[in-house]
Amino acid sequence: MNINNRTIYCKDNLDILRNIDSECVDMIYLDPPFNKKKSFTAPIGTTAKGASFKDIFGKEDFKEEWREEFRVEHKELFNFIETMEFYANESDVAYIAYMGIRIIECHRILKDDGCLFYHCDDTMQHYIKIMLDIVFGRENFRNEINWKRTSSHNDGLKLGRITDAILYFAKSNDHLSKKVYTERPNPKDYYESIEPETGRRYSRKNSHALERSGDSPKELTFNGKKYIAPEGKRFRWNQKTLDAEIEKNPFVLYETKGGKLRQKYYLDEDPGIMIQDLWEDIPSMNMSKSERTGYPTQKPIVLLERIIKISTNEKDFVLDPFCGCATAAVAAEKLKRQWVGIDISIKALELVKQRLKEEVEGFNEDDRQYDVFGSNKPISFQTEPPTLSKHSSKPKKHIYIISNPNHIGFKVGIAKNVKQRLNGYQTSDPNRAFKLEFSTKTEFYREVESEIHKYFKADHEWIKGVNLKIIIKKIKSLIKKHDQK
Ligand SMILES: C[S@@+](CC[C@H](N)C(=O)[O-])C[C@H]1O[C@@H](n2cnc3c(N)ncnc32)[C@H](O)[C@@H]1O
Repeated sequence: MNINNRTIYCKDNLDILRNIDSECVDMIYLDPPFNKKKSFTAPIGTTAKGASFKDIFGKEDFKEEWREEFRVEHKELFNFIETMEFYANESDVAYIAYMGIRIIECHRILKDDGCLFYHCDDTMQHYIKIMLDIVFGRENFRNEINWKRTSSHNDGLKLGRITDAILYFAKSNDHLSKKVYTERPNPKDYYESIEPETGRRYSRKNSHALERSGDSPKELTFNGKKYIAPEGKRFRWNQKTLDAEIEKNPFVLYETKGGKLRQKYYLDEDPGIMIQDLWEDIPSMNMSKSERTGYPTQKPIVLLERIIKISTNEKDFVLDPFCGCATAAVAAEKLKRQWVGIDISIKALELVKQRLKEEVEGFNEDDRQYDVFGSNKPISFQTEPPTLSKHSSKPKKHIYIISNPNHIGFKVGIAKNVKQRLNGYQTSDPNRAFKLEFSTKTEFYREVESEIHKYFKADHEWIKGVNLKIIIKKIKSLIKKHDQK
């Protein structure tokens, strides 16, 4: 891996992202400009004074060379952008292309069990979601988190827009989301009963019936009395579990007036309320005076701490490619994660140093505070991209062969997700007659595809007059040749 903990890069993030090794980061949080068609400037007199960024996208932000890259390597994204060009305005198209090219790199540098959070609002959210579905795969969409940032907002003719959306995608099923809890407000209202024998508070509202359907027993004995599960149900515990639980706590069960067995839930065992996908408890206004830098669009540190806790473990690597006043970096440091931030504005470095000192207990840059691995690491400031490691594993893609009875020959192409690509073809064919003949994954997909097309002379990727077995054999031998290099 060619990036180090506690680094701020000051440059356009595309230059940096393109040079970070593949599969080396655990979580990426992006809070880019939202395409609000205005500029943001920090007020004079604030810590962030002098910071500003443009949130206006135009035709010039969509570089022509990306179009070819989309066309050759990310056909679905290419088609999506082309479709947008039919009806969306130039600024929206440019925004999607600008973010799309960066999302591709983010996806590449994430570890297989990593994940990404894209912070946006309803200006572009619907397009961004499609783009992320394409790059990450629809099956890897985890949540749309709705963050209520304020209580009221005057938006003219519209209803007040008081929420942002944070789109959460995993790179694969290997990513595990963690359960995070917040304190329950007024817990005594919820745990309203007191156990006379012990004085412990428990809830009768939240006490769980012991019944459910399934293949567990129909009968249980408790306190010498026999209980029969209601018609069509069975008990959640078997007799052995019940006896063991009673041994641990003789008061854990009680009988309702209706003669049903119930399990108590106690206040002193309550972890709090599990975080769901609606976050109403972190208003921007509640940022403390010391936390507020004046940096435009600064996010609350608690918001970032929550995102980091949901998705990473201690020592994991967090990357923020649009880091602004480095909120994600400060949150990561507080939670003992490693971090890298990128921002085009030099203000990020200045602010991260100051914020770490002020907001992370015991942090003092001059003392060269030990990092999570115990190494004596100062914050590093870089203006040049890292150098890709020789052994950086390149992402693999499929080389596939498909056929259709109405076409002569076989089509050879490359795709990240063959199933998705085949579906794409089927929808353009009224007979749904495309058939996947062969596919294999390789990191040399680009080289092999172009050599195959030259070797067999392809017309729009269709190879004619060659037996399928011969094409497969050639693909395999080309992959072998590159592997041995
Ligand atoms: C919405 S702000 C991020 C705020 C940040 N989450 C925080 O809490 O401070 C977006 C940031 O993206 C930066 N930015 C915009 N385009 C960029 C690019 N191409 N490369 C790197 N940074 C960029 C801007 O300078 C700005 O600081």
